[in-house]
Amino acid sequence: MTPLALGILGSGKGSNCRAILEQIRAGNLNAEVRLVISDVLEAGILDIARAFEVPNAYLPPGKYRTRLEPQVEQDLVKMLRDAEVNLVVLAGFMRVLKAPMLDAFPRRIINIHPSLLPKFPGIEAWKQALAAGEKTTGCTVHYVESGIDTGEIIAQREVPISPGDTPATLHERIQLAEYALYPSVIAQFARGERQSK
Ligand code: GRF
Repeated sequence: MTPLALGILGSGKGSNCRAILEQIRAGNLNAEVRLVISDVLEAGILDIARAFEVPNAYLPPGKYRTRLEPQVEQDLVKMLRDAEVNLVVLAGFMRVLKAPMLDAFPRRIINIHPSLLPKFPGIEAWKQALAAGEKTTGCTVHYVESGIDTGEIIAQREVPISPGDTPATLHERIQLAEYALYPSVIAQFARGERQSK
């Protein structure tokens, strides 16, 4: 089977991107990362792409804070299409995608969120779970739609909350679960078990 062509978008340290690249390298995931794109010049995710010798680019986001400027988003669509990307993987990408991307890749954009959605959408979801006194939280992979963290849920993994947890220790435990969950969901797409409808 041809490897699934991925485009990964991120704004931060890129540890999920690393986990995906490691699973590909280990032969556990039949995929190829065609392009890693970041809206943050100094983001660790670009260093990781370079370390794995994957094509990568900084995409200057334009004048808005929470989304891409429309022309920039059109450019992003073109970059991903030119690279013949089949599945767009958001890995810590901190901007909301709009019509250009959503129309170009229907049910072909997925995201990972550090809570058991629909609980705790939005930022620092692990802090929200701690503050709410939850005993369990986790992570969710979902399709990306126009709402924030509201798209159809694909898979979830539970993570226990310990009495002594701080935001940092809990976030670390959730991230370990993410590194297992995200590649396993992408593998479902790679095997053709999930497709855009
Ligand atoms: C992850 O915790 C993910 O759930 C959230 O952003 C974080 C990205 O971390 N959407 P990293 O850049 O992959 O290390």
